[in-house]
Amino acid sequence: MSHAFAAPLAYERVASVIPPAEWATMDDDVAAILRLKRERRAVILAHNYQTPEIFHGVADIVGDSLALAREAVRVDADVILLAGVHFMAETAKLLNPEKTVLIPDTRAGCSLAESITPADIALLRATHPGVPVVAYVNTSAAVKAASDICCTSGNAKRVVESLGVPRVIMLPDEYLAQNVARETDVQIIAWAGHCEVHERFTADEIHELRASHPGVIILAHPECPPDVVAAADFSGSTAVMADYVTTKQPARVALITECSMSDNIAVLNPRVEFVRPCNLCPHMKRINLKNIRSALENMETQVEIPMEYFAPARRAVERMLAI
Ligand code: 13P
Ligand code: SF4
Repeated sequence: MSHAFAAPLAYERVASVIPPAEWATMDDDVAAILRLKRERRAVILAHNYQTPEIFHGVADIVGDSLALAREAVRVDADVILLAGVHFMAETAKLLNPEKTVLIPDTRAGCSLAESITPADIALLRATHPGVPVVAYVNTSAAVKAASDICCTSGNAKRVVESLGVPRVIMLPDEYLAQNVARETDVQIIAWAGHCEVHERFTADEIHELRASHPGVIILAHPECPPDVVAAADFSGSTAVMADYVTTKQPARVALITECSMSDNIAVLNPRVEFVRPCNLCPHMKRINLKNIRSALENMETQVEIPMEYFAPARRAVERMLAI
């Protein structure tokens, strides 16, 4: 029946997870977005936590925070639309000052980015003189500007060890810092920020999952509490989790992370059974087909970085990408 749709090729990609009747409510927006992308010379960068109709239906580049930052540098387009949260759009803008960067809903924030300010960093630096500051990309441009280098969940250990110092301040995610600390000799001073999605998982939940789903392979995101990561079989960024499933093809897997991850990877791995003890990110879920369409129609909202933060924030991101 997909031939009856205005965007039949897009539907073919998601037909295993979206019934035709549901796609009928999306088809017109998808077709309009595909047309607008051509007219505007726009590309859509989508994070792994976006819903399948965005991830498989309209996105040009998908991935984890690190991949999206890396690809943002290579993009050949006039407009970048970020289907993800605000700090990701800011990172894309930092790397593409001459391009228009759009975010469909400026309220798509992040509990980690909200947990720390440049004033907090000044206080940390005063308490720990000379200790470099590693900022997770899940931070505002102002916080990046006050830091020495950025990291993502995909490269945190490498970044920390690249500095060649015995101690670093790593912020704002306390659990990511603790999970990296278990894997390195570098001493890590953490901040008490948490991801509101990953902090809700518990080790008991993981044990129950194993008992109720024999043989399940459990992959946990490193923003989860350390006891959850310890109870899992493997931990890695969203891209590393996707790669694990695609290459190893476990019979049964549980991704301890945001809900859309399993939906998106399931499309590409039909033989893998996904057990879904997931949590939703309300910020990621602010982005939808309607506001992507309207962002491209009206060229709003354009992401701008305050002048005073631009150069130092870009330096912190570029130092990370150089590793
Ligand atoms: P990664 O995709 O970099 O693993 O990050 C997860 C996340 O929480 C982004 O908001
Ligand atoms: Fe932030 Fe967590 Fe949502 Fe990612 S999943 S955007 S870290 S609140």
